[in-house]
Amino acid sequence: MADSAGIQQGSPAIGAAGLVPAAPGAGGTEGSGAAGGSARIAVKKAQLRSSPRPKKLEKLGVYSSCKAEGACKCNGWKSQNPPPTPPRTDQQSSAVNLQEPCRSCSHTLGDHVTHLENVSEEEMNRLLGIVLDVEYLYTCVHKEEDADTKQVYFSLFKLLRKSILQMGKPMLEAQESPPFEKPSIEQGVNNFVQYKFSHLPSKERQTIMELAKMFLNQINYWQLETPSQRRQRVPNDDAAGYKANYTRWLCYCNVPQFCDSLPRYETTQIFGRTLLRSVFTVMRKQLLEQARQEKDKLPPEKRTLILTHFPKFLSMLEEEVYSHSSPIWSQDFLAGASGGQIPIHTGYSHPRRHTLQANSCFFLNLGEKRKPSEPLPHEENKRPRVVGDIPMDLINEVMATITDPAAIPETSLLSAHSARDEAARLEERRGVIEFHVIGNSLNQKPNKRILMWLVGLQNVFSHQLPRMPKEYITRLVFDPKHKTLSLIKDGRVIGGICFRMFPSQGFTEIVFCAVTSNEQVKGYGTHLMNHLKEYHIKHEILNFLTYADEYAIGYFKKQGFSKDIKVPKAKYVGYIKDYEGATLMGCELNPSIPYTEFSVIIKKQKEIIKKLIERKQAQIRKVYPGLSCFKEGVRQIPIESIPGIRETGWKPVGKGKELKDPDQLYSTLKTILQHVKSHQNAWPFMEPVKKTEAPGYYQVIRFPMDLKTMSERLKSRYYTTRKLFMADMQRIFTNCREYNPPESEYYKCANLLEKFFYTKIKEAGLIEK
Ligand code: ACO
Repeated sequence: MADSAGIQQGSPAIGAAGLVPAAPGAGGTEGSGAAGGSARIAVKKAQLRSSPRPKKLEKLGVYSSCKAEGACKCNGWKSQNPPPTPPRTDQQSSAVNLQEPCRSCSHTLGDHVTHLENVSEEEMNRLLGIVLDVEYLYTCVHKEEDADTKQVYFSLFKLLRKSILQMGKPMLEAQESPPFEKPSIEQGVNNFVQYKFSHLPSKERQTIMELAKMFLNQINYWQLETPSQRRQRVPNDDAAGYKANYTRWLCYCNVPQFCDSLPRYETTQIFGRTLLRSVFTVMRKQLLEQARQEKDKLPPEKRTLILTHFPKFLSMLEEEVYSHSSPIWSQDFLAGASGGQIPIHTGYSHPRRHTLQANSCFFLNLGEKRKPSEPLPHEENKRPRVVGDIPMDLINEVMATITDPAAIPETSLLSAHSARDEAARLEERRGVIEFHVIGNSLNQKPNKRILMWLVGLQNVFSHQLPRMPKEYITRLVFDPKHKTLSLIKDGRVIGGICFRMFPSQGFTEIVFCAVTSNEQVKGYGTHLMNHLKEYHIKHEILNFLTYADEYAIGYFKKQGFSKDIKVPKAKYVGYIKDYEGATLMGCELNPSIPYTEFSVIIKKQKEIIKKLIERKQAQIRKVYPGLSCFKEGVRQIPIESIPGIRETGWKPVGKGKELKDPDQLYSTLKTILQHVKSHQNAWPFMEPVKKTEAPGYYQVIRFPMDLKTMSERLKSRYYTTRKLFMADMQRIFTNCREYNPPESEYYKCANLLEKFFYTKIKEAGLIEK
């Protein structure tokens, strides 16, 4: 779900050589002066390092415990003439007197620095570096207004102070050490480039890599919003998770940018998709906005790159960042693919130094065409391949044709065949619309924007559901137990779904659902419901119940709702509100479906199947004329009357009972399969045909099948209907008869086993006797 914009982060500028990173400094303490702050510390450190040794001792004495006899408790020498707060290192003071007594314990400065007598100049300089970092953090703690950030600064301040006292190295005492998620953002982006652009010629690929590098550098210098800012902007986000990442980011990435005594890591190397997801939408919006604002300042050769290609690059990447099934986040991405990865490292190089080769035409090909010979690494890695799967070469070949822009219309030109939610999905990706789950809370400080949206929702529901009393709508929308998935366009609420979750009962009640009248039938209703489904899968509630208005039954049916309720009555009676004249409908969610992407996946699969059929048709020598009966008004014909259907190996599946209970179906099929496997003529079909034993078998037989594969499929509950099971078994016999001559033993075995199989199927009542 998209995050809303609105928080101005750091200020990346678009300069002559491209996008330039934001300045360091978190939580607003440093703001735009942070880069300067970091430079100032560096200058001060250099000054201090070149000062005379007594001056250095005086400085370190302030942070050193007293070593005078009698176990003095003083942990830092204090001058009789106190320095300004915070102490200024550049202050020119009079000569240092090691005999000067401490204002606190009265022992001399010398008593505080005895441990430094034999310490090398190098070690002194290291400790002085920490001293200056401590002083800088002291200022940060005092200036910082955000409580979370202040707390982290303070912890770091204490840590550094302790390491001066103990002359040790500052070590963060965290429970976990970096990296915090794998694959890292850098690896993910690396994979993305490989996944989408590996087919491009090397020069163009190089340009993409530069774009990727530019993007990674942006993240490394990006100012994360504070947890409280985020809570206001995305109230229902995983607040604890974000806060943990924010703290890590401050400690390991942000503060070390200006306090170099702390070990520094790149954000892109120690964080993964979770952090990227929490910054991507806002970041993308701001980068593009800035690019637009500064377009006149861009040199002409960079204009196309930054104004046209970079946005497209970000859109494509965004899809992978938020997709549930993107292979770029798989740990073993490319494991089976040929060709090495193209590593993109950000290192510590400043992006100003990156020179981008603008190529005015390379994006025309981006992600559109993959050479047939190239493997699709992600496809190979998604799941183990099973005998009987369509060969990858063939899939690659077909994919190459379906991703051809000539085959699929440009997404901006939606055709009449586009999925209902396609336009909405694209609008969301472009940032035109946003989805937020919001609600009223009695525990948190009211957020003005959320309250405005809730009022907006109350208005939309009241207008669209005129039969519902307005007071009732208001009560539920503002009731803290109810939440509303709201659809925002141009900062205004244009639709939403109000719901109440009952986790203990395993369902959610959809209370109100509406889209404002002038925005209806544009796919928003579908996309809203898809987001709601994904939200619930995330929260492990897999059933929706709703009382649908008479006029909305059609809409709910199209979203997968039915009057056949799967939730047991005892679970919802007394929980769900009852509405007179409305129909109770339910929808069971499948957690493995990425609902907001579903229509795209189906569209791709349809294209693949269409192409496969076309190919198959091209191989068939005997072509029958198409059926004309439908044009003449016939609505249905028996399958067996289709000319040529039997020659393809198709056999009529006799009528029989379809076992609805999955466990009953499973045990029936298991018994039948065991009988078949124990049959005396089953031996040729027990295992996949070995290439060595049957030369050219896999050229002739495109869809092999065997009893071992069927056992595996049965075990993995692939056979959800008897038809799937019978089709696989039938394929074994058809393949055998296609490859072997009729007089062969194999051919005879196939005939005998087939007969036996059909007897067993009939006995089990799966087809009529
Ligand atoms: N009856 C039948 N089909 C409908 C209806 C309807 N009332 N409304 C939309 N559809 C169809 C659309 O034609 C479309 O079908 P298609 O994909 O075959 O073209 C599909 O449902 C989804 O269309 P979307 O554009 O995604 O939906 P839309 O943005 O129009 O939102 C909604 C649907 C929320 C029902 C909207 O029409 C609306 O606000 N209606 C008035 C309020 C309402 O009736 N709300 C439901 C009350 S019940 C309850 O709240 C629990």
